[in-house]
Amino acid sequence: MTKQIQIAIDGPAAAGKSTIAKKAAELLGYTYVDTGAMYRAITYKAIQSNIDLQDGEKLTNILNKTSIELKPSPKGQLVFLDNQEVTDEIRSKEVTASVSEVAAHADLRKEMVLRQLEMGKNGSIVMDGRDIGTHVLTNAELKIFMSASVEERARRRFLENQKRGISTNLEELIEEIALRDKMDSEREASPLIKAEDAIFIDTTSLTIEEVSEKIMQLAKERMR
Ligand code: CDP
Ligand code: CDP
Repeated sequence: MTKQIQIAIDGPAAAGKSTIAKKAAELLGYTYVDTGAMYRAITYKAIQSNIDLQDGEKLTNILNKTSIELKPSPKGQLVFLDNQEVTDEIRSKEVTASVSEVAAHADLRKEMVLRQLEMGKNGSIVMDGRDIGTHVLTNAELKIFMSASVEERARRRFLENQKRGISTNLEELIEEIALRDKMDSEREASPLIKAEDAIFIDTTSLTIEEVSEKIMQLAKERMR
């Protein structure tokens, strides 16, 4: 019998985490949890309700009364905020520009981590984010830290936006991603950092298939 494992995938924006995590979860029949979507959802709610994004206490109080659900569907993972679907809304430019500020609040992160631990408690899970290997699935059998050059990551986001019919500027994307990387890596509360026991994968010149194959091989080794 194969062992049920936890897989933690961390790294900066547009490194390919969710694409690979989703694929691995599908192939293994595991649950996929996109923790970035949770931070995006609360940011969306805060913007809609005109909350001061620097007020961590208020944001945490609001989060405590907010339901965020991630539901798999043939179209991909759907995100529900207080029972309303917000899958596309949470990817807006406005949310993207504010999410790192919201995610920097330590108490808000504590509540998010509790929810993520609950989701991951039975194993058979692939979770991606910034602090999964260091603060959430700290005993995960497989930890990956995935990155790529900022230019390549911006190029990927550019192409992705183009496919979704959203026009963006490559230079602006490089700036936005570099700023978010800096905020996520330099914050005090669980910054974006490679866990000591994580395997580093530079995906700059790798295709989705190549990265996926690598991860599946590593996962299978740990499932024996
Ligand atoms: O998809 P993309 O890489 O652009 O970002 P995301 O995974 O949706 O995450 C959005 C933001 O949420 C990140 O830039 C972080 O500020 C925050 N985040 C976090 O702090 N911790 C996590 N575990 C996941 C996301
Ligand atoms: O989750 P994260 O923000 O790390 O990245 P993603 O949303 O999975 O990937 C960003 C974009 O890069 C997607 O459109 C992927 O199809 C693409 N990608 C790629 O071109 N090559 C890879 N090796 C990985 C992802």
